[in-house]
Amino acid sequence: MTKPRILVARAIFPEIIAKLAEHFEVESNPSDEIWTKAQLAAKLADKVGVFTTGSERIDAEVLAAAPHLKICANMAVGYNNFDVDAMTAAGVLGTNAPDVLTETTADFGFALLMATARRLTESEHYLRAGRWTKWSYDMFSGSDIHGSTLGIIGMGRIGQGIAKRGAHGFGMNVIYHNRSRLDAALEADCKASYVSKETLLKTADHIVLVVPYSAASHHTIGAAELALMKPSACLVNIARGGIVDDVALAAALKDKRIAAAGLDVFEGEPKVHPDLLTLSNVVLTPHIASATVPTRLAMANLAADNLIGYLTKNMPLTPLNRAVIAIK
Ligand code: GLV
Repeated sequence: MTKPRILVARAIFPEIIAKLAEHFEVESNPSDEIWTKAQLAAKLADKVGVFTTGSERIDAEVLAAAPHLKICANMAVGYNNFDVDAMTAAGVLGTNAPDVLTETTADFGFALLMATARRLTESEHYLRAGRWTKWSYDMFSGSDIHGSTLGIIGMGRIGQGIAKRGAHGFGMNVIYHNRSRLDAALEADCKASYVSKETLLKTADHIVLVVPYSAASHHTIGAAELALMKPSACLVNIARGGIVDDVALAAALKDKRIAAAGLDVFEGEPKVHPDLLTLSNVVLTPHIASATVPTRLAMANLAADNLIGYLTKNMPLTPLNRAVIAIK
C-alpha cells in the first residue's frame, strides 16, 4: 500500500524525518532551501500534510494549489504564518506547538532582559575590540532588575513564566496587561497585578512583550507608546516582529528616549532594520527564544505527532481550528 505523501518544508532533526517516514512518504528539505511561495505551492500539489516552521506562509493562494492537503503542522507556538480562516474554509487543519517551549522561552525572555538592562553585549563588544584599558566607576552602568517594576504585555503561558521568574526570583513588582485578566489564583501564583496598557507603559522599569501577533496587536508599541515609557526603561520583544514598530523604536533608542531594548524578533526578519544594527543600546538575537536542543526537539516531535495523529487516527494533539476535524 502506498503511504500518504507529506512535505517537510525546512531542514529538521533527522530522527523526526525518520519517525515521519514510518507513516508517510516524506519529501524533505535537507539543504534547507528557502522556497518561494510558488515553489511551496507546487510541492504541496500532491501532499496531504505539511510540516512547517513559523516561516512558511499558508494562505488561500497556497491552499488553492494544494487540493489534497488536510493538515499544516507548525513547529512553533505562534501561527501568524497561517491564515486560519482560509485554512478552515479549505477544510485544512492547522496545529501549533504550545506548552513544550514555555519554560525555555521564559528563560530566554529573562536572559534578554538581563542582558539589555546590564548592557551585557555592548560591554562584551567593547572588551573584544581591545578598548578596555582601565576600570572606571561608571563603566557600562545599567539598571537594576531586582526590586524594579516589570511590565508584561501578553500574559499567556510564557508571560506567566516570566512573571514568576521576576516576582519569585528577583523580587520584582510585576504588573501586566492582557486582553483578558487572569483569574485571582493565577495572579497570585505569578504575584502579578493587572493594569491598563497606559499605566503599564508609564510605570514599568522594564517591559517584556509576549503578545501573539495579529492585525489587532500590530504595532502594540509604536511612537506614542514609546513616548509614555520612562526614559530609563528597557523594552524586550520576544513575541513577533510587527508587535513593535521597529522604525519608531530605532528613533527612540537613538534619541535615548528609552534606555535600551532587547529584540529577538523583527519586522521583516531575517532582515533587521539597518538603524538598529548601528545602535549600541540594543541587544539583538536571531529569533532563538525557544532554541535549546531538548525544546526544539520537543517542538518538532509535537508537530510530527500532530501529523501522525491526524492523518492516521483523526486525532491531532494541538488543533487550532477544531471545526475542521468534525467535517473531515
Ligand atoms: C517561536 O517564535 C514560536 O512561535 O514558537
